[in-house]
Amino acid sequence: MDSKTLKTLRMQSQSLTQLADELAIDKGTRHRTPHGYTLLYDMLFSDRRYESLTILELGLQTPTGLDAQDVAGRTGSAISSVRMWNEFFPNAKFIGVDISDFSQFEDEDFEFIRADLSDEAGVQKILEKHQHFDLIIDDASHATHDQMVCFKHLFPALREGGIYIVEDTHWQPGRSEFAMDLNFREILAHFSLYGVFPEHAQIFTQAFDHHTMNIGGVLIQSPGHIQPQPERACVIHKAANASNSCFRMKINNEYKDDSIRLNAAKKLRSLYPDDARILFETAVAFSDSGHAEQALGVLNEIKPEDRAAETIALHAKLLATTGQVEELKDRMANFQAGVVGEVHSSYDLIEALIDANLIEPTDQFITTFLEDTTRQPIFTYRLACAFAVSSQPALGTELLERAVQKLPARQECYITLMEHYAVLNERDKLSESIDRAIARFKQDAGIIQIAASACGACGHTEKLRGLRAEYDAVLSEHSRAA
Ligand SMILES: C[S@@+](CC[C@H](N)C(=O)[O-])C[C@H]1O[C@@H](n2cnc3c(N)ncnc32)[C@H](O)[C@@H]1O
Repeated sequence: MDSKTLKTLRMQSQSLTQLADELAIDKGTRHRTPHGYTLLYDMLFSDRRYESLTILELGLQTPTGLDAQDVAGRTGSAISSVRMWNEFFPNAKFIGVDISDFSQFEDEDFEFIRADLSDEAGVQKILEKHQHFDLIIDDASHATHDQMVCFKHLFPALREGGIYIVEDTHWQPGRSEFAMDLNFREILAHFSLYGVFPEHAQIFTQAFDHHTMNIGGVLIQSPGHIQPQPERACVIHKAANASNSCFRMKINNEYKDDSIRLNAAKKLRSLYPDDARILFETAVAFSDSGHAEQALGVLNEIKPEDRAAETIALHAKLLATTGQVEELKDRMANFQAGVVGEVHSSYDLIEALIDANLIEPTDQFITTFLEDTTRQPIFTYRLACAFAVSSQPALGTELLERAVQKLPARQECYITLMEHYAVLNERDKLSESIDRAIARFKQDAGIIQIAASACGACGHTEKLRGLRAEYDAVLSEHSRAA
């Protein structure tokens, strides 16, 4: 058996964590201050282990380890981390960079580039030799400035699907941090939350803006299972579209910090003025923060062929809120054709049309919507609520009755129906709906109270008396049970 086969056999049985621990590397779980990064890397890389990858590691040897001045005659495998990567990725090309001279270690598995990574010219030295990498690990000086210089220039050289890792973001050497407001982890955390790099950025974040569209997933790892500690490694996945940023903007709805969200939206829009998804999310951000006219302006920038159902529905909603009923009427036909397939969008559109009093119970659009059994029953209820307070309360009644049947366990359907009959002063119907609710939610004092106030609201005193008696009976039953 030749040495290459032996090496393959040996390495096949070892995870990156086992290799790190065997070679006393602190990326593993046992030596020095164990960072546990390899636990994450095993998850990320095991599927790509036998591919012909190009791997770049920045920073090669811990200062307390091998003395770079005393290395003559050694090979790349003498540097523990090079050996670990080479053994784990048997078919990869490995390039290492350091400010110290490790050229004596070069061999067929390891290429060395000597460069000072605090300097843009130093990083360019790498790019003069190689323009494409699959994996980049920054474990060099850990200074935020240097990490940013490297990320600025090297991220574009990462292949699509590649991974960029910055290690030890919890610690920076003090001397070089004086000019930094945010460290790399904080910059990435901002991106992770808002889909854009921070505004008040220091020197390089503007350069990072150009990476925005190519950043897929972002992970800030905390190996808390070893010991409680702050997040340490930042992992950035390169992808070829803006889905991450659009997604961040979308989930930002939940943070409800309108000013940060709007700033993020404006920034993304200025970076990518033709991207329909970014324009749509920007319009949502404007709409949610009460800027309907601006939201409409942004929507109008989306090319007609790029207008998805949700865009059309939002457009309708905004036309309704801004009172542009004629415009909304003109567009009805297009809206119906474009939106009817999508549940949420259709609902938004119907709600907009109800608001503008532009929909009839008999409209093809609404009958199709309601008859479609694939629609969730809760949409019937939401639609019923919208109609109940519109100028077409009869349709509200019909839909609320339907909602009670479709959602027999949901109290809100019964409650809204009772309140609706009270508003319409339909006492017989109110009595019927109360009897149904009480029969369904036996011994529920809350339902009886709500029914009583509905009766009170429309002066249905006879039913109210009966409810009082029922309420007392339920309470005494409860106290007996207690
Ligand atoms: C933490 S060690 C790397 C450890 C190694 N990756 C491992 O896992 O065992 C940091 C390395 O970064 C190098 N370094 C420090 N400042 C640098 C700079 N400005 N440019 C390039 N390399 C630098 C040091 O010489 C040192 O070898």
